[in-house]
Amino acid sequence: MSFFLAFVFLFPLSLFIFKKLSPSKMNLPPGPTGLPIIGNFHQLENFLHKSFHNLSLEHGPVMLLHFGVVPVVVFSSREAAKEVLRTHDLETCGRPKLVTTKLFSYNFKDIVFAQHGEDWREMKKLVGLELFSPKKQKVFKCIREEESDLLFKKLTKSAQTETLVDLGKVLFSFTAGIIFRLAFGHNFHECNFIDMERVEEMVIESETNVGTLAITDFFPTCLGWLIDRISGQYSRMNKGFSKLNNLFQHVIDDHLKIAKPEDHSDLVSAMLIIINKPTKSGSFKITSDHLKGVMSDVFLAGVNAGVITMIWTMTELTRHPRVMKKLQEAIRETLGSNKERITEEDVEKVEYLKLVIKETFRLHPPAPLLLPRLTMADIKIQGYNIPKNTMIQVNTYSIGRDPKCWTSPDEFIPERFLNTSINYKGQHFELLPFGSGRRSCPGMALGTTIVELGLLNLLYYFNWSLPDGMAIADIDMDEIGALNIAKKVPLELVPTRHHL
Ligand code: HEM
Repeated sequence: MSFFLAFVFLFPLSLFIFKKLSPSKMNLPPGPTGLPIIGNFHQLENFLHKSFHNLSLEHGPVMLLHFGVVPVVVFSSREAAKEVLRTHDLETCGRPKLVTTKLFSYNFKDIVFAQHGEDWREMKKLVGLELFSPKKQKVFKCIREEESDLLFKKLTKSAQTETLVDLGKVLFSFTAGIIFRLAFGHNFHECNFIDMERVEEMVIESETNVGTLAITDFFPTCLGWLIDRISGQYSRMNKGFSKLNNLFQHVIDDHLKIAKPEDHSDLVSAMLIIINKPTKSGSFKITSDHLKGVMSDVFLAGVNAGVITMIWTMTELTRHPRVMKKLQEAIRETLGSNKERITEEDVEKVEYLKLVIKETFRLHPPAPLLLPRLTMADIKIQGYNIPKNTMIQVNTYSIGRDPKCWTSPDEFIPERFLNTSINYKGQHFELLPFGSGRRSCPGMALGTTIVELGLLNLLYYFNWSLPDGMAIADIDMDEIGALNIAKKVPLELVPTRHHL
C-alpha cells in the first residue's frame, strides 16, 4: 500500500525532475536511462565498483546515475580522476550526509565522514599529531616490532606441526594488535572485556553497516524511512552501533580509572586531556563525540584495508609461483641469513616487495571507490557540468584495469613498475589506493609500514603451500564487502620454516 501511495505521489514529481535535469539540456554527463523514482538502482548488482565499471564501459569515464532522486557522478579514468582530485579538489572535498555515516561518525564529529570545515580540519590536525606524526611513529616503533614478534611465534607454532593457517585471522590479529594499541592503548590480545575474535566481527559488521546504502538517503518523503524499517536495515545499523559505542565507552572508562596527567601515550589519553577545554582556535572544543568519532574512524578505516592488502598480496603470490620465488629470494638475499627479528629498517631495503605491493594495490585496491565525496560548488569536468551537491565516486578499480594506462591490465606483473616513477602517494592518478588531495588517507605511512612488516615476516621466515589436494586453479578470487572489498573465501595455507 505504502509503495503504491509513494509511487502515485512521487511519479509526477520525478518525471518533472528528470525532464528538467535532462543531461542534454544542461550538458550533464551521459549515463544509463533510469526509471522514475528508483533512478538507476535496478541496474546495480552486488558490488558497486563492478556495476559502475560495467556501466562505464558503455557510457564513458564520466557517467551520471541517479540513486533514487540523488544524482551520482562516477569517474572511471585517470584523466577524470586527476581533474576531480587535483584541479577541483577543494570544490569536491565534501562528504555526503548519509544516515549511517551520521550515526557511526557521532554526528560527523570524526574525520572520515565529517563535512569539510573547521571540525574536520582541527580533528585531522590533532590526530595527525598524536597518531601519524614522524615523532609518534618513532615512539610506536617498538609496539609494531613486538606485534611482529608475536606473529612470528604464532606462525612458527603452526609451521612446526605443518598446520593450515587462516591468514586472514593471523593478519587481522597482527594489524589490529598494532592499531588498537597505538590508538586506544589497549592490548586486545590480553583484554578482559573483549577478545580479538569479537573485535574482528565488530569491524566487519560496522563496515558492512556503513557501506550499505540506506534507502532513506535516496528517497524523499517517508517511503525510504519505511523501507529501512521494514527491511531491518535500521535496526541492524542501530544494534551494530550500540555494540561499538559500548566498546568505546569501556575503553574510555578504563582510561579514566588510571588517568595520569599529561599522558600522551595513546590517542585516547591525549584526547581525554583536552576534552571540553578551549583550544587555541577559539570556538572549537573537543567533545566526547569527537573522541568517539575518531575511535570509530580508527575502527572502520584503520585496520581492515591493511589486512585485505596483505591477503590479496599472498593470494596473488600463491597464484604466481614465479613472483613468489623471486620475491623470497630478493628478501632473503637482501636481509641476509639468520635474522632474529625483522625490523622497520628492513622494510626500506627490499625494492621488489614494493613493486609487488603496488601491483596488488592496482588490481585489488582495498577501497575501490575511495569514499564518496560531494561537490560543494558547480564544476566542469572533462567538459561536463557537475552541479553543486552531486555525490561523486572515483572508481579506482576501473582505472587500475584500464588498458589505456596498463599493458596486459588483468595480469599480475610487478615488474611493470620497474623504471617508472609511479607511486601510490596521490600524485599518479592511475594508482590511487589511498585517494588523493585533501581527503586522501592520513594513515598511508602507518598502513604501508604495517603491510610491509607483516609480509616481510611471512616471506622471510616461512615457505607457503596450498593444502593437500588443492591446485592453484582452485584458488577462489570472489570478493566480499561494502566499503572495503576483501577476498571472500579465506586464504588458508600451510607454512614451513625456511632455514637459511
Ligand atoms: C593499507 C592501508 C590503508 C588504505 C589502503 C587506506 C585507504 C584509504 C582511502 C581510499 C581513503 C579515502 C580517500 C578519499 O576519500 O579520497 C582513506 C581515508 C582515511 N583513512 Fe585510510 N587507508 C589505510 C590505512 C589507514 C590507517 C592505518 C588509518 C588510521 C589509523 C587510516 C585512516 C583514514 C582516515 C581518518 C581517512 C579519512 C580522511 C578524510 O576524509 O579526510 N587509514 N583511507
